[in-house]
Amino acid sequence: MEYIKLSNGVEMPTLGYGVFLVSPDECERCVSDALSVGYRLIDTAQAYANEEGVGNAWRKSAIKREDLFIVTKVWISNAGEEKAAKSIDESLRKLQTEYIDLLLIHQAYGDVFGSWRAMEKAYRDGKVRAIGVSNFQAGRFFDFAHYVDVKPMVNQLQCNALIQQTGIEPLLDEFGTKMMAWGPLGGQGVDGIVNSEELATIGAKYHKSAAQVALRWLTQRGIVAIPKSSHKDRMAQNFDIFDFALTADEMAQISKLNQHDTGTINFGDPQFVKYLIENYG
Ligand SMILES: NC(=O)c1ccc[n+]([C@@H]2O[C@H](COP(=O)([O-])OP(=O)(O)OC[C@H]3O[C@@H](n4cnc5c(N)ncnc54)[C@H](OP(=O)(O)O)[C@@H]3O)[C@@H](O)[C@H]2O)c1
Repeated sequence: MEYIKLSNGVEMPTLGYGVFLVSPDECERCVSDALSVGYRLIDTAQAYANEEGVGNAWRKSAIKREDLFIVTKVWISNAGEEKAAKSIDESLRKLQTEYIDLLLIHQAYGDVFGSWRAMEKAYRDGKVRAIGVSNFQAGRFFDFAHYVDVKPMVNQLQCNALIQQTGIEPLLDEFGTKMMAWGPLGGQGVDGIVNSEELATIGAKYHKSAAQVALRWLTQRGIVAIPKSSHKDRMAQNFDIFDFALTADEMAQISKLNQHDTGTINFGDPQFVKYLIENYG
């Protein structure tokens, strides 16, 4: 496993396992499989309703707590200082742990500054080792990061070989924020990356799949990737990316595949904002 160092010195694995759309019933089995394959970073969220499955899987494993890196996210319905604080305690209970390694604001809506104050307090109190945001696109990210005391250590964004998020990189660097890639394989039901002939051709040289090349490309950019799979063989395949390195030419070749730098969701689209706030706010 390779690690990156967050701005507060915390070391974070560059590859993890994500559990979006993994049902509460399936989650314990999937995370147990992922841990047995070797994953030590698990990405969940209050909104995924499967934090308990993550906690159960870890509790039943022989892995020491300090060897595991648990990421969860405060959902919109828990925005605001008081509600976020309560939700952090609830996440700790469900995850069956005394601390969360990385806590993110899931979406940039509602009283995010209130949520952040609760997160800063949890950070100071030792309930959380690092704090950050998710889906804060460039302008929103700057506005937020500029005004808060503890700068976000991570921004989790949709990022992959076709959606490369290069535009936001200088802003993240300005605040010492690391990028974490959701949808690193293109996401549920999207096969542009795992079936990419160009990525497969590059991978053939190393006996690696297109998916492995896509993940390696992210980690070589210094971006943490959290692929999801419900299948143990794919979990193992996605984890097996640390015994080869892409050349500078191959990195540049993949950079040319960028199609939509900022992602497929416009987080400022009023329809999208209304949908989230009316359903979850
Ligand atoms: N912050 C946010 O708003 C946000 C949003 C979305 C996701 N996330 C996080 O990011 C994680 C990953 O994103 P994601 O789940 O959307 O998408 P993803 O990891 O890019 O892709 C998952 C899809 O790829 C398939 N897959 C996995 N490995 C494969 C392989 N080696 N070959 C072929 N297909 C493969 C999976 O199918 P099978 O399961 O059938 O193998 C699944 O359909 C999530 O689980 C979640 O933790 C965060």
